[in-house]
Amino acid sequence: MAGELKGLDLGTSRIVLATMSGEKVNFTAQRNAFVELPLVKMTETMLASEGILHTVDERHLYVYGNRADEFAKFLDGDERRPMARGLLNPAEPKNLEMIELLITHLCGEAREGEKVCFSIPTAPADRKSDLVFHERSVLNIFQELGYTAQSVNEGLAIVYSELRDTNFTGIGMSFGGGMCNICLAYLGLPVFTLATTRSGDYIDQSAASVTGETPTTARLHKEQSFRLDSNVGNALDHAISIYYTDVIETAVKALQEAMAETKKLPRFTSPIPLVCAGGTAMARGFLPELENALRNADLPVKFSKAYLAKDVLNTTAKGALVAAMLNM
Ligand SMILES: Nc1ncnc2c1ncn2[C@@H]1O[C@H](COP(=O)(O)OP(=O)(O)O)[C@@H](O)[C@H]1O
Ligand SMILES: [Mg+2]
Repeated sequence: MAGELKGLDLGTSRIVLATMSGEKVNFTAQRNAFVELPLVKMTETMLASEGILHTVDERHLYVYGNRADEFAKFLDGDERRPMARGLLNPAEPKNLEMIELLITHLCGEAREGEKVCFSIPTAPADRKSDLVFHERSVLNIFQELGYTAQSVNEGLAIVYSELRDTNFTGIGMSFGGGMCNICLAYLGLPVFTLATTRSGDYIDQSAASVTGETPTTARLHKEQSFRLDSNVGNALDHAISIYYTDVIETAVKALQEAMAETKKLPRFTSPIPLVCAGGTAMARGFLPELENALRNADLPVKFSKAYLAKDVLNTTAKGALVAAMLNM
């Protein structure tokens, strides 16, 4: 039974598959990116012999997934992204083709009766119809592969993954590449979900813009040596730190507004937990900065604790798998 379920985190930066084997959850991930190379027979042969994911059309080779950035480094352009800000990237003509290749590689064809639950973001107010297109297109891909498929909101997936001990009551936040998705849940029901489009990519692009670096350089620096809890560092550290604070404050402000707008907040009998996941929550010093912003916002709920999920890069995928188990 458990072998017949899959959870998929369809993130802007990474696509993560969660499957069960016995009691254990296994994860496999691919970067949600690709690069275009000129079509040269020898390159194609090399890619095939190295087992590098690629596809061809009449004039080009496309390398996609985890090893795309090796090629991006020595080509002039940056890697291309099938998704942007949580949804199919409207500026990328190969968006669906690449998503289909990545999903097919990760999930394969369904075994008989196999089910999959995949994550979708909350659409920003001006992109509600884009979410319809995004979700339906992904459903079609899974149907072609033979799956029974369903979507789950990303913020709710964090709650499903991490807040079993409080009967799925509390706040889940996912700070990914394209978006920050947030859900306040009460006994497994979403009271509200929301998303901001300021997260990891916003930090990279904004810090690159004011320092003259490329977004990839900013990203690698942010992931490798940056600390949010330090004042020392170069111009890039300084810029990244400013935009990091902006990302955190934007998320907390959105949470504050949603709470103010929700007419009937449930009556929580005890303080509730707040759990954070996503790659952007990995920076050293992230949590104290978030706690600080939460204190300043003075929200109308009491928190028992604010903490990072155990495995922040895999939390959404695990939550999607739990959603499949609970709901499908
Ligand atoms: N160690 C790190 N410190 C800060 N940011 C990181 C770190 N590792 C990854 N990230 C950032 O996390 C984001 C990707 O997170 P992920 O949860 O996989 O995103 P998505 O849901 O958009 O696919 C990217 O912006 C990446 O640069
Ligand atoms: Mg994500």
